[in-house]
Amino acid sequence: MDPTHHRIDYTSGTLDDAEASADPIEQFRLWFADAGRVVERDPNAMTLATVGADGRPSVRIVLLRGYGDDGFVFFTNYESRKGREIEANPHASLLLFWAALERQIRIEGTVSRVSEEESDAYFSLRPLGNRLGAWASPQSREIPDRQFLAARVDEFEARYGAAPPRPQNWGGYRLRPESIEFWQGRADRLHDRLLYRRGTSGWARVRLAP
Ligand SMILES: Cc1cc2nc3c(=O)[nH]c(=O)nc-3n(C[C@H](O)[C@H](O)[C@H](O)COP(=O)(O)O)c2cc1C
Repeated sequence: MDPTHHRIDYTSGTLDDAEASADPIEQFRLWFADAGRVVERDPNAMTLATVGADGRPSVRIVLLRGYGDDGFVFFTNYESRKGREIEANPHASLLLFWAALERQIRIEGTVSRVSEEESDAYFSLRPLGNRLGAWASPQSREIPDRQFLAARVDEFEARYGAAPPRPQNWGGYRLRPESIEFWQGRADRLHDRLLYRRGTSGWARVRLAP
């Protein structure tokens, strides 16, 4: 694989001003539906960028679990690296990239915890193994070995059986978008980019140079 000479032209779609929705959440819904049809693995995977106390960014993948006018929801351990960074600095961004559609969506905004009820409701939908895993894993902390995790799963299984409650340090975050940019690959690198910004009276949209 030679990255210098690996090159494709993007020709599978367009993002026209006349066709794009005035509402970026509606536009997201349309593109997310396309991704659900076309993208075989993890169409809801998104890169989450947070900023540490030292001002340095860090990124990782999380799964989108819900979205709407109030924002984009993912679940995690509140004491993980990302959790600690968000608690100290709620500014974050999300990125979804679907190669099969030649599309990218960038979302920037402010993150806050979802309600306890919302976290409980989602936690209860997870398979038992995942629920026990949430108890067992002190996410982002150094652990001695894999056996440590297996022993903790056994410990929490013995304690809670088939009905583990949601750990207090595990739950959802919702990123309330301030801006959302939709990118559609086009020929000759003359891509379409529509940027929506939240204003006092709703969303405004501009076109950016590729
Ligand atoms: C496809 C995929 C989906 C993932 N989904 C999640 C998720 O929804 N929540 C989560 O906490 N970590 C998820 N992870 C793991 C994170 O990328 C990351 O390793 C973990 O959350 C620790 O990140 P942190 O140390 O920056 O907090 C996922 C990873 C991949 C590759």
